[in-house]
Formats: sequence, structure tokens, C-alpha cells
Amino acid sequence: MALLLTVLFPLVSASVSRSVPIAAQTVSSSSPAGVALFPGEAVQLTAAVLSTLSAELGEEDASLFSFGNTSVSVEERKCKLLPGDADWPDDKLWETFDALLGGALIRTVPLAAACYASWPEYNAAECDYVNANWTDSFMHASSPSSIMWPLFEGRTCLPTEYGDSCTLGGYSSYAVNVTTIAQIQLAVNFARNRGLRLVVKNTGHDFNGKSTGKGALGIWTHNMKDMEYLSEYQLDSYSGPAVKMGAGIQAFEIYEQSKQYNFTAVGGEGESVGVAGGYLLGGGHSPMSSVYGLAADQVLAMEVVLANGSFTTVTHASDPDLFWALRGGGGSTYGIVTSVISRVHPQVGVTVSRGSFTSANVTADAFWTAMRAWFERFPEQADAGTYSYFWVLSLGDDEFEFEMAPFFAVNHTLAEFETLMAPWYDLLAELGIEYTPTTEYYDNFHDAWKVGFPLEEIGIPTMMEGSRLFPRANWENATLFNQTLEALRTTITAGYPLLAFNMKAELQAGYRDDSANPAFRTMLMHAITSTEWDSNTTNAEIKEQMEEFTFDVLQAWRDVCPHSGAYMSEADILEPNFQQAFYGDHYDRLYALKKVYDPKGLFYAPTGVSSEDWVVDSADGLPDQNGRLCRKLE
Ligand SMILES: Cc1cc2nc3c(=O)[nH]c(=O)nc-3n(C[C@H](O)[C@H](O)[C@H](O)COP(=O)(O)OP(=O)(O)OC[C@H]3O[C@@H](n4cnc5c(N)ncnc54)[C@H](O)[C@@H]3O)c2cc1C
Ligand SMILES: *[C@@H]1O[C@H](CO)[C@@H](O)[C@H](O)[C@H]1NC(C)=O
Ligand SMILES: *[C@@H]1O[C@H](CO)[C@@H](O)[C@H](O)[C@H]1NC(C)=O
Ligand SMILES: *[C@@H]1O[C@H](CO)[C@@H](O)[C@H](O)[C@H]1NC(C)=O
Ligand SMILES: *[C@@H]1O[C@H](CO)[C@@H](O)[C@H](O)[C@H]1NC(C)=O
Ligand SMILES: *[C@@H]1O[C@H](CO)[C@@H](O)[C@H](O)[C@H]1NC(C)=O
Ligand SMILES: *[C@@H]1O[C@H](CO)[C@@H](O)[C@H](O)[C@H]1NC(C)=O
Ligand SMILES: *[C@@H]1O[C@H](CO)[C@@H](O)[C@H](O)[C@H]1NC(C)=O
Ligand SMILES: *[C@@H]1O[C@H](CO)[C@@H](O)[C@H](O)[C@H]1NC(C)=O
Ligand SMILES: *[C@@H]1O[C@H](CO)[C@@H](O)[C@H](O)[C@H]1NC(C)=O
Ligand SMILES: *[C@@H]1O[C@H](CO)[C@@H](O)[C@H](O)[C@H]1NC(C)=O
Repeated sequence: MALLLTVLFPLVSASVSRSVPIAAQTVSSSSPAGVALFPGEAVQLTAAVLSTLSAELGEEDASLFSFGNTSVSVEERKCKLLPGDADWPDDKLWETFDALLGGALIRTVPLAAACYASWPEYNAAECDYVNANWTDSFMHASSPSSIMWPLFEGRTCLPTEYGDSCTLGGYSSYAVNVTTIAQIQLAVNFARNRGLRLVVKNTGHDFNGKSTGKGALGIWTHNMKDMEYLSEYQLDSYSGPAVKMGAGIQAFEIYEQSKQYNFTAVGGEGESVGVAGGYLLGGGHSPMSSVYGLAADQVLAMEVVLANGSFTTVTHASDPDLFWALRGGGGSTYGIVTSVISRVHPQVGVTVSRGSFTSANVTADAFWTAMRAWFERFPEQADAGTYSYFWVLSLGDDEFEFEMAPFFAVNHTLAEFETLMAPWYDLLAELGIEYTPTTEYYDNFHDAWKVGFPLEEIGIPTMMEGSRLFPRANWENATLFNQTLEALRTTITAGYPLLAFNMKAELQAGYRDDSANPAFRTMLMHAITSTEWDSNTTNAEIKEQMEEFTFDVLQAWRDVCPHSGAYMSEADILEPNFQQAFYGDHYDRLYALKKVYDPKGLFYAPTGVSSEDWVVDSADGLPDQNGRLCRKLE
């Protein structure tokens, strides 16, 4: 570019590996959180930078990057722009934007474009790689636009075995590879001022495809990888160890750090999940939840870019409402979190046990007697601080399989674990069920987690999921307990796999309340199931199958706990009354706060707070992101 910039703002040190935005200034790194901003957090868009921009670009172009001004009421567009619209930025404007960002703008290309001759990226070797690695979450996490649930992309640009055509579909059109606050502020202001759809993509794990959208400008937070262990952190009434994590930190990274510094963190089981992004913003359950509650509960401070482009430190003291709403109210709703400071806990030993059995040598009734006894154990197991992740599957012909994958007995020695399990193991033996799990004790969380949770496969384009949080009340009433087991048995027998977690997630004494789904607080089981179709199933048939799954199969689960809810991040995209299911009685307050912090609806995510005010007109009629996003106007 010819412009840029006569004024030389101090730039971040050249040794830091990040692209340096040109429209930026390095500000003081002091933060009300009491911990210095990360280097990239101190690189910000300021009024001084904006006035330089006016001189360089002219008022009109520069105003595209200015902060939101709530005192001016701008007439709102009904719909967000798509490429081809008259107001869609031309190439020159995208170039200017890229220059201001310091070259961090990426024109997105679907991974599987390598498999399609219609794309310049067509390349047989690359296609082989993409096909072979499609179910590997790390491949999608390291793409600026790819998500792990292809359903939401629309049925396009899939690996070779699933499709024969390739368009961008529901993927964002551009993504900014952000490592500084200034880049996020430029993108937020540009999208808001120009009327572009904005998405925030971290890893792309969300079960409802919340980090993608057709024609969107994406903010890709994956490379915000700073992390700092704080051995003695003090804020609010907390005093103790904590960790400050950049938005792109993934579970495996915090766990590696936890081994190095000898602490335990509340993170997810899945190693590639983004700990400081959508996971924690939506609640976040963990192998440690029965002991310490949700990941959202651990948060003490956050650095955030708001919808108006302002950067702010959010703590209970600075802004109790926003602090409450961000911790559990869902990703991509109130702002873009650039880092969080979370409590961490003393190192702990864990006994991990994995194994499986089938009904092959016994009757189905004996198998279900074993299952009844298993489920009966849930209050005792959760109250002992343990967590288990298990599958129950139909093998057809009235045969079944149980898989413990794994039992994660936090703070239990081998002997304590065997004592805990003895009554159930005795019953299995009595029933003639052979169960010989591999069980081992580790003196630290990291090593136990590493063995306990092999990387899960993602990316199946021909399926959808649904889930339910089952409350303790269902264990406290014998009639209701029987109805609960019956509902699960019916689902499994009909061929829908059960993947469930036995855990609890109570808010710990002395912790600040947050907006996480109240159904988490009474939960003893988070249960997930799914439905699949063939790659040649028609859109109309898929729609019908999805509706049957949601309104018939999963209704049986809702019927036994109608006042409970479901976990927004591992949920059914068609969940009826999602406001109640995902947010419970926090919804009205969350909605009111959305109108305060994002009155113009810059942040949209399917099933997010206030998403009922919007509609996506998808190309294939399925509930995906391959279509224009518009407001519903009366
Ligand atoms: C294999 C697998 C294992 C999982 N294991 C667990 C588990 O153990 N426990 C658990 O609770 N969940 C688990 N999940 C669910 C997971 O928590 C959600 O998918 C969650 O949304 C992931 O957040 P993310 O930031 O990594 O992903 P993304 O899909 O990229 O983001 C999710 C949402 O958060 C928004 N977002 C992301 N980063 C930010 C940010 N910095 N600021 C604002 N908004 C942001 C996105 O816009 C999107 O709306 C698992 C999912 C999978 C597929
Ligand atoms: C994103 O930015 C990081 C840090 O600057 C860089 O290492 C990485 O190569 C970039 N990725 C892409 C896809 O541009
Ligand atoms: C907001 O816009 C008004 C009217 O154009 C202007 O007077 C005011 O200075 C602006 N405020 C900010 C913070 O930009
Ligand atoms: C990824 O693809 C390569 C090349 O085909 C293959 O060697 C490798 O095993 C794949 N990795 C995974 C995790 O599937
Ligand atoms: C790690 O922490 C545990 C629990 O606080 C403690 O018992 C142990 O001695 C620590 N180990 C090291 C190497 O510091
Ligand atoms: C069934 O019993 C046979 C004979 O005792 C044994 O070899 C086999 O492992 C058992 N199968 C299962 C699934 O328990
Ligand atoms: C582990 O259990 C013991 C009691 O057996 C308890 O005193 C201790 O606080 C527990 N530690 C953790 C980290 O939960
Ligand atoms: C629950 O089911 C068990 C096993 O079928 C049965 O023995 C028990 O009587 C039932 N309890 C109630 C309250 O229905
Ligand atoms: C137990 O559950 C059944 C079935 O939902 C319900 O009819 C009954 O009233 C409940 N009993 C108590 C004491 O709550
Ligand atoms: C669809 O695919 C399945 C297997 O993938 C095959 O059995 C079936 O015949 C196909 N149906 C049609 C209509 O092509
Ligand atoms: C941006 O929004 C926040 C929260 O509503 C507000 O406190 C702040 O003053 C706004 N910034 C500007 C420049 O208007």
C-alpha cells in the first residue's frame, strides 16, 4: 500500500512472532486484573491511531474502523452482507483492511478444496491428507474457518467419499489471524460499521457450529497462545494460585503447564478443545467438576473486546453484570475474550480405569441389571469427587455393549478405587459378566488424563447430536428413577448410542455466582446421543430424521426431567425452547444484558442469547449456516 503511516507508533518487539498491525499503538500493559497485559494485548487501536487514519485514508474510509458510538442511532440493516452485494467491500478495501492489520487477513479456503478440480487449490496429495485426517480435530482447529461438525457448513466441500462439489458454503469468507487487540478491534469495528456478519472461531468444536457463518468475517483466536502461571494471585476475595490463559489455549496446553507447575486445572477432557474460548464461556464441564464445579466458576478476571470495539478488563469489581454474563452465558455473545485468569488447584493423584463388556455370554436382562446397578451408583460416585465417561450401545439382536472410557477417580488411590467399585464388580461377577478393566494410579492429573482420554474423532458429515442434563432428583424417587432407566433403555435399544458422563458441577462455597445453566448445579449425568444418515440421503429426508430425533427420541429424555436443561455447547441445534433448556431462569437477565452490551447484534451465534431475533435462510433448508443472516422484523 502507498499509504501508511507517517506516524510511527512503537511496535511490539520484533522477537515476538506475530504479525504487527500498522494501525496500532502499544499502550501501558497495566491492567485492573493486577497482571500485566500479554504483549499482544497492549497493542491496541486508539483514538490517536484513528485520527492518523483519517489523515491517511480520508474521513470516509477511516470511519469504517472507528469505535461504536451509542449516542448516534444508525439505521440498522435488516440483513448482514454477502459477497456480491453492492455494499460488500471491494478488493481495494479488503487490501486496505489487510494492510492496517499488518497482513493478518486470510481469504478462507475450505480444507477439502484440495479435492475439487474447480478450485485453484486442487492437489491430489493434499486431498489425500485431508481425506485421511478429516476426523482429526487438530486439523480443523488449525484452519481459520473449518469446523468439526460439517452439517453446519451445508452439504458442500466434503471429503471425497461424502460429496462431489465444493463451494465455501457456510464458512466465513475472510478470517483475521489475530494475535493483538488492535487486530480484533479493527475487525470488530469494520464488521459493525460495514454491516458484515462477524464470527469468532477458536477451534471449531462447538456441536452447533457456532463459529461459522456464510459470508462472515471471522476472528480466529487460535494463535493467542500466551500463558502465565501465577503462584500467588489475589483478586476480589481470592488469594492463591491462578493461570492467565490467552484465548487460543487448548486443553492439552494447560494440562502440560499443570504438570510443569504442579497444579490441577478445570478444563475439558478433549485435548484439542479451546479452554479459554467457547468451552469456558458456555460453562465447561471437566474431569475435575465433581470436586470444583464448572470451568466458568473458576474465572476471576477477563480481558475483552466489546461490540463497540472498546477493550476492557472485566472483573466482579469493574462490571458485575458483564462478569456474570460472560461466565456461562455462551461464546460470541457479549464480546471477544482475549484472555482469562482462572483459579487453579493443588496437584492431585488419580486412578484411571478403562474397560468394556458386552451381553454376549449373558441375557439382555442380566446386562440391564448390571446397567441399573451402574446408574444407581451415580450419587455416590459424584459425591466421592469422581467422574466417568461411558458408552452404552446396542449391537443389534438384543445384544449390548458397555464401555468405560474412562472412570476417572480423582484423589483416589488404587485401593480406594477398588473399595468404591467393589459392590458393582461383585454384582457383575454374580451375573456372569466378565469385566477386566485396565486400572492404574497416577500421581498427577496430566498423566492420568493423557492415558484416560485418547483423542476423539470428529467431522462425520452425516450426523447430529442431542443431549440432556439429568438431575439428582431422578435418583431420589424410585418411580422416577425407573422411568429414567426405561427412557434410556428404549433409546439405546432403538439403536441410538448413549455417551454419558456421571459427574456433578456444584458452585463451590465462596465462589462468585455466574450465568452457567442452572441445570448444571443439580446434574448427576450429562447424556448425549446422536442420529446418522447416509451421504445420499436427501435434504428433505434428513430434515424429517432430525425432527424425529429432536421431537420424538429426545422428548423421552425431556419427559423424565422437564424442568432440567441441556448443555449449550454439546447440544441439539433444534432443541425446543432452547432459551429454557440452555440458560434456564437466567435467560431474561442474559437477554437484557445482551441489549446493553451489543444493542446492534454484532455477535450472533445459533442458539446464542437473542438468536431468536435472527434467522438464517439456508440454501438447503437444513438448520445450517449456509445462508444469509437476517433480523426477524415484525
Ligand atoms: C471432541 C470434543 C470434546 C469435548 N469435550 C468437552 C468437555 O470435556 N467438556 C466440555 O464442557 N465441553 C466439551 N466439548 C464441547 C466444547 O466445550 C464446545 O465445543 C466449545 O464450544 C468449544 O469451544 P472452542 O472455543 O474450542 O470452540 P469454537 O467452536 O471455536 O467456539 C465455540 C463458541 O465460542 C465462541 N468463542 C470462541 N472463542 C471465543 C472468545 N475468545 N471470545 C468470545 N467467543 C468465543 C465461538 O464464536 C463459538 O460461538 C467437546 C467437544 C468436542 C467436539
Ligand atoms: C497466523 O499467525 C501466526 C502468528 O503470527 C503465524 O505463526 C501463523 O503462520 C499464521 N497462520 C496463518 C494460517 O496465516
Ligand atoms: C458520537 O457522535 C456524536 C455525533 O456525531 C459526536 O458529537 C460525538 O463526539 C461522538 N462520540 C464519540 C465517543 O465518538
Ligand atoms: C494424516 O494423513 C497422513 C497422510 O495420509 C497420514 O499418514 C496420517 O496418519 C494421517 N493422520 C491422522 C491422524 O489420521
Ligand atoms: C506437588 O503438589 C502436591 C500437592 O500440593 C505436593 O504434595 C507435592 O509435594 C508437590 N510436588 C512437587 C514436586 O512440588
Ligand atoms: C464369553 O465366554 C467365553 C468362554 O468363557 C469367553 O472366552 C469369552 O471371552 C466371553 N466373552 C465375553 C464377551 O465375555
Ligand atoms: C483428597 O482426599 C483427602 C481425604 O481422603 C482430603 O483430605 C483432601 O483434601 C483431598 N484432596 C483434594 C485435592 O481434593
Ligand atoms: C423399579 O424397578 C425395579 C426393577 O424392575 C422394581 O423391582 C421396583 O419395584 C421398581 N420400583 C418402583 C417404585 O416402581
Ligand atoms: C416420584 O415420581 C413420580 C413420577 O414422576 C411422580 O408421579 C411422584 O409424584 C414422585 N413422588 C414424589 C414423592 O415426588
Ligand atoms: C444410498 O447409499 C447406501 C449405502 O451408502 C446404499 O445402500 C443405497 O442403495 C443408496 N441409495 C440410493 C438411493 O442411492
Ligand atoms: C463501549 O461499550 C461499553 C459497555 O457498554 C461502554 O462502557 C463504553 O463506554 C463504550 N465505549 C464507547 C467508546 O462508547
